[in-house]
Amino acid sequence: MSKKRSDLPINLNLNVRGLAPSATLAINEYCNKLKAEGTKVYKFGLGQSPFPVPKSVVESLKKNAHEKDYLPVKGLLDLRIAVSEFLNKTQKLESNPEDVLISPGSKELIFILQLVYYGDLIIPTPSWVSYYPQAYIIGRHVHWIPTSAEDGYKLSPEKLNEICEKDPDRPRVVILNYPSNPTGCTYKLENLKELAQVARKYKVILISDEIYGLLHHHAQHVSIARFYPEGTVISTGLSKWCGAGGWRLGTFIFPKNLHWLRDAMAIVASETYTSTSAPIQYAAITAFKGSPEIDKYLEDSRLVLRTIAKRIRQILIDENIKVPQVNGGFYMFPDFSFYKEKLANRGIVSSAGMCKAILHETGVAMLPGTDFGHKDDELLARIAYVNFDGAKALKNAHLIHETYDGANIFLNKCAKDVLDGILALTKWFKKL
Ligand SMILES: Cc1ncc(COP(=O)(O)O)c(C=O)c1O
Repeated sequence: MSKKRSDLPINLNLNVRGLAPSATLAINEYCNKLKAEGTKVYKFGLGQSPFPVPKSVVESLKKNAHEKDYLPVKGLLDLRIAVSEFLNKTQKLESNPEDVLISPGSKELIFILQLVYYGDLIIPTPSWVSYYPQAYIIGRHVHWIPTSAEDGYKLSPEKLNEICEKDPDRPRVVILNYPSNPTGCTYKLENLKELAQVARKYKVILISDEIYGLLHHHAQHVSIARFYPEGTVISTGLSKWCGAGGWRLGTFIFPKNLHWLRDAMAIVASETYTSTSAPIQYAAITAFKGSPEIDKYLEDSRLVLRTIAKRIRQILIDENIKVPQVNGGFYMFPDFSFYKEKLANRGIVSSAGMCKAILHETGVAMLPGTDFGHKDDELLARIAYVNFDGAKALKNAHLIHETYDGANIFLNKCAKDVLDGILALTKWFKKL
């Protein structure tokens, strides 16, 4: 008699055993469950773009729905041309279509790079939730570099140098992500130049995760590839600026001398996902080629995001909750340590415990600082201010005058749930 599936021995790879599913996906599922039970939930947990995919890109997908063939593993040539031209235009680079690798999401590429390249991973605290688990699954050493809120949670070149000089020839991968998930902070030109110098000195492979680059609130994103071209791999995709996370399209752009790395990654791709969905790749050409419609879409997205960020950050600051300047994307990373004693009086001594209590008592869902590499007793959490109707917000972006009244009128009309959620949060702290 054949064995039932449940009788089979559970013999998971030790590096996967005990790992929980990605924190962002888990909180989303939990919020949906609470909502289905009738609880009012303010979903600041999952970092998903609230904006619809631009019309011309949707039309392009419809037009290409019949495309059914497997495409080249590195990606459709016309798309690789569009990505390369897009980067050359926006970042003044000199890339070629051969430098581009297309995948079903940049997350997959970040994983495969770590799989094929034997090196330690260096990331700042806080960092995006998936870098560490990916390295852990593969079995890489991870160095977290502490940062400070006062310094906008930026990776310091001195601290990077300190780690590298201990063993100068050791192979290393550094991931820099800006505008940052979870903080919304970014780097100034001089910071990038200093980091580039250290990266060059120790020949590190630098993944510059610029998935939120086009959502810099003032359209001032600059790639570190300008200062360390020979060692920087730019990571981007459609998920954030184009509102198409579920379409799954990401891209890496390699310098010439890292084509061996691109080729090694393409081998793994060919033996795993084969190629990225054909209709999505055709539609992505329209997105990366750009148009006046897409320019306007981006301009309005930035205006909406910076208006919401500015207003809610001020509400938090007014209640002694520290939030560094937010420059891009749709996250902020408040520090609630002002309330440490009052929280402790209620038996709350960890960021996870704090987020749990807040979710149960107010319906406000946030991700605790521990998910981003912080210690349990640091009272930090990430707010993804995306629980609003993005289509309605874009339609009403013209209402925004960048004054207190303009912002308030806009928020009350188009992002009431964000405002109410932040007010529910501050009310909870005031009542402690
Ligand atoms: C910082 C960062 N990098 C990479 C990704 C992965 O994006 P995707 O796989 O959708 O391209 C995300 C998604 O949330 C992110 O926030």
